[in-house]
Formats: sequence, C-alpha cells, structure tokens
Amino acid sequence: MSETTNKPDRNLALELVRTTEAAALAAARLVGLGDKIGADQAAVDAMRLTLSTVQMDGLVVIGEGEKDEAPMLYNGEHIGDGSPPEVDIAVDPLEGTTLAAKGMPNALAVIALSERGTMFNPGPIVYMEKLAGAEDIADLLDLDRPLTKTIELVAERRGVEINDIMIVSLERDRHTEQLQAVRDIGARVRLIQHGDVSASMLAVSDRSPVDLLWGIGGTPEGVISAAAIKCLGGGLVGKLWPRDDDERTAAIEQGYDLDRQLTQDDLVRGDDCFFAATGVTDGDVLQGVRYQGARSATTESLVMRSRSGTVRRVHARHDRTKLRTLVSGRFG
Ligand code: FBP
Repeated sequence: MSETTNKPDRNLALELVRTTEAAALAAARLVGLGDKIGADQAAVDAMRLTLSTVQMDGLVVIGEGEKDEAPMLYNGEHIGDGSPPEVDIAVDPLEGTTLAAKGMPNALAVIALSERGTMFNPGPIVYMEKLAGAEDIADLLDLDRPLTKTIELVAERRGVEINDIMIVSLERDRHTEQLQAVRDIGARVRLIQHGDVSASMLAVSDRSPVDLLWGIGGTPEGVISAAAIKCLGGGLVGKLWPRDDDERTAAIEQGYDLDRQLTQDDLVRGDDCFFAATGVTDGDVLQGVRYQGARSATTESLVMRSRSGTVRRVHARHDRTKLRTLVSGRFG
C-alpha cells in the first residue's frame, strides 16, 4: 500500500484467495444436496468473515443484491478492515449456485478488485450479451457484426475450417436462433447450463477446446469475467440487454447507453485489477474441493493481477479439524 497515493501496490489477490478458498470450502459441504440457497449462504458467510480481515477499504460494487434483499455483501457495503487502499469489489461467493446444488461441474467462488471508481455498475440491467475470445482474435470481437461472420473471420485468422471452431454458450431459449445460425454454417456448439464466468476464462485460455464464448448472461458475471480477462489476456465485448421496455426505460433514464459495446477495459477501468477464484466443483479451469480422509481438504485457485500479468495457480491443503476449531465449523 502506498501512503501517498492510496492506490493498491501490494498484490491483494494473494490475500483475496483466502476469501475464495473459504467460500469454496463452505459451499462444498452442500454440493449435490439440492439446496442452492443454502450453498450460496454458506459461501457468502465464509467469504464475508474472511474479507473482514483483509487490509483494504473495499466498496462492494457487484454483490449479492440490494441491501434490503441481501444482508451481507450487498451492493454499497464497505468491506475489509477499513484501512487504505480504497478499492471497488465484485464478489460472487458461489458462481453457479444450481451447478453446486446439483453437483455439476464449473461452480466457482470468485472475487475481483480494482481501484476505487473503476468498476462498471450494472444498475438495473440484469443481462448482457457477451462475446469473448483469446488474444490472437480479440480485435475480431464485434457484437454489431453477425456472429456467423465473426466465426468465419476467426477460422480464417487461425487457418482452420469453420467446423474446427467451437462456441460455448448458455443453453437458453433466447439463444436458439443465433445458435442455429452458427450450426448452419458448420461451427460446433458446446452448451452449458450455468457458469459463464468459467466459460469466459476457458474461451481465452491457451489450448482451449473452445474458441469463443457467446451469449446473453448476467451483467455482474460480465464485469467479473472482464476482470479475469484483463489478467489472463484476451478480449471480451458486452452490450447491455434489457429484458423488457420497463428495464430499457429505466436504464436510459439512468444514463446507460444500450447501443454501446463495452470492452473489458470499460467494464473494469485502469490497469490494476486483482482476481481470485477457487473451484467448488471440478471444472474446465479449476479442480473443485476434494476431501482426503476426515481431516484434509484440498482446493485449487487462480490468483491473478492485471498490472503484472502474473497468473498463479494455487493448490492448498486445508486442515479441516483446525479450521473447524478456528471458525466454528463454518468451512470444514
Ligand atoms: P447463479 O450463480 O446466480 O446461479 O448464476 C449462474 C449463471 O449461470 C451465470 O453464470 C450466468 O451469467 C447467469 O446465471 C445466467 O442467468 P440465467 O440463468 O437467468 O439465464
């Protein structure tokens, strides 16, 4: 931390990973039990408890919702121990609540942080159309061009057939027409039930089995994916997608530009953003929580910072017996 600028100059992601590990360990106890609200609550409680020990003055820009519906980690809440640096925070203690409840792959605990005033506030807009891909095709990402044309350009750039290209997308009725057009030109589609943060990270990763993420998913998840992509490399463009006329009117009244394509640098401005994610269930980018006997649990996390471009994969072994004693059974 710099005394003079108030900006973060230590790698906060190394501290934040403790919060995602705690959330993942807590949620993991409820994996497959069919209780998405309970799993989310366990993750929120654990993350909140650990966050209070991090040295920062954090403002939740993307949290669990408005204060009246979310008693903890609500939008506008101040978290951390209150000391500098002043930062914006996006949290998703359990990204993929249904995935965790059903014991399906790709549930994550995730947090992103950037300098105060740099994180996009989604306001009333729940959904965003997103297109993401790796560094070598980042300049081709454009939501104003037909998706099929972009796929052709990606195939040309990579010197492959259209049929080699794979799009990952949430399986939703709102995507049916576009995905049919994608299939009609011969490109392949990987459908996912939930979890487009994990899918965005997969789309920009090296040697990924998918070339592009496309689809309309959560706006908060779009901001979190943007933070991840600023650290990992690659590109993401997003356009706010109001669900109805009321949402459209509310957004315009509040000054949102619905025609604008937002890049990862619009969604998280500045060059110093931090990101940590821990796998809850096994997935494409992270292994989930595993138990070894009654005493031990392991986690796998990604810990990243945009300014340095360092991407760390952190494997941790946790002593469940000791954790239970320390935090009254919350994480173990
Ligand atoms: P939750 O963790 O809140 O259950 O959200 C998971 C998710 O699949 C996100 O990854 C995605 O952006 C969003 O929900 C899609 O929303 P919807 O399920 O309403 O289409």
